Amino acid sequence: MAAQAFLKLPQRVYLGENLIRKIGDFLATKKNKGVMVFTDPGLVKAGLVKPLEDYLINSEISYKIETDLKPEPSYTEVDNLLERVSKFECDTIIAIGGGSVMDAAKLVSLLKGTNKSVKDLIDDASTATKKCSTIFIPTTAGTGSEATINAIVLIPEKQVKFGIVSDAMLPDLVLLDVDNVKNLPKPILASSAMDALSHCVECYTAKNATVMSDGIASMGAKLIFRNIVKAYQNPEDIEAREALQLGAFYGGVAITASGTNIVHALSYPLGGKFHIAHGVSNAILFKAGMEMNKEAIKDRLASLCDIVWPEEGSKSVEEKADFVIDKISEIVKEVEIPTDLKKFGVKDSDLDFLVDSALEQKRLLSHNMKNLTREDVVRVYKSVMEN
Ligand SMILES: NC(=O)c1ccc[n+]([C@@H]2O[C@H](COP(=O)([O-])OP(=O)(O)OC[C@H]3O[C@@H](n4cnc5c(N)ncnc54)[C@H](O)[C@@H]3O)[C@@H](O)[C@H]2O)c1
Ligand SMILES: [Zn+2]
Repeated sequence: MAAQAFLKLPQRVYLGENLIRKIGDFLATKKNKGVMVFTDPGLVKAGLVKPLEDYLINSEISYKIETDLKPEPSYTEVDNLLERVSKFECDTIIAIGGGSVMDAAKLVSLLKGTNKSVKDLIDDASTATKKCSTIFIPTTAGTGSEATINAIVLIPEKQVKFGIVSDAMLPDLVLLDVDNVKNLPKPILASSAMDALSHCVECYTAKNATVMSDGIASMGAKLIFRNIVKAYQNPEDIEAREALQLGAFYGGVAITASGTNIVHALSYPLGGKFHIAHGVSNAILFKAGMEMNKEAIKDRLASLCDIVWPEEGSKSVEEKADFVIDKISEIVKEVEIPTDLKKFGVKDSDLDFLVDSALEQKRLLSHNMKNLTREDVVRVYKSVMEN
């Protein structure tokens, strides 16, 4: 375990119901030149944006709304968004949506009013500073983007996704309002919660895990492991959805304090070239990634097993590690995510591209407990290309 531990956190985080009025409390502390709201068409259709707009109108807060955000955007799409909002003067950006909307908002908050583009941040985000305050209202449960220092964009010319990292991306206010996940459609719940679970498990088993990241990652893992199937199978189980929302937030905090690794590194080329949704590609690779790492992380998996399933305490280390990996595999089946890459159009001839591209994810792979060889990466991909 790394000697130095740290947490980087959003300024204020609320969990509960009817949290929208917290926006007014926050804006009262600002000069408030105006508010920009970022969201996407799915959120508008789901009726989640209207209460926010009603609140802003009733509170006489001047705002501009951008609803035309694309899921899992490319860096050029975020640059187009930046261009569209460049003339609107604002102090604060509110992002209501999943990781795609929050990540776009993070990037705009660093670039607004500058002559820089997202490409500049891809090249070097180390000196970027925040130009607008940010309020994040996550509606998936979820990426945990509301708690991370990352924004993920597609680089189309390389057919890969890329994580831009800057401490300045941490939001000023996060509202984890259970109303936003009450009607989350089942496939989105499944994929986003699998993403969150992979954040927690990868961070717990990472090379750079610390005593602080362990505490957070294991709390998140317990909430998600224990509630994901219940939330998926019974949409009326609001407590289970609330648990996923909190677990996803912890997953985000854990990413910043530790780091995702094998699953995410191999997942990015699948998102980049085949546009497989981020949570789905993680779910596909999750079991295979853990199996590849198993010898290096079995003590960590066993310790996670003790926290999440104390009733399995009499098992050996080996059995506990297997138990966690089997649980992951069972859950992926129970939330009905297909695990054969070929079903997503991936062919044997794509293997070289996938492996080369995954090996380029050096930042993520540096967190992996096992040093992965090219052959290891080939083996993981082959194991999820069944026929
Ligand atoms: N910044 C980070 O730390 C981080 C971490 C993990 C993933 N990500 C990125 O986040 C993106 C994925 O985000 P996501 O999984 O949250 O999905 P998303 O934001 O791409 O949304 C997927 C779809 O779900 C819909 N949706 C969202 N919430 C809904 C709700 N409550 N009701 C109905 N529809 C709803 C959206 O309209 C959209 O069509 C990827 O680009 C991924 O790489 C970022
Ligand atoms: Zn993720």
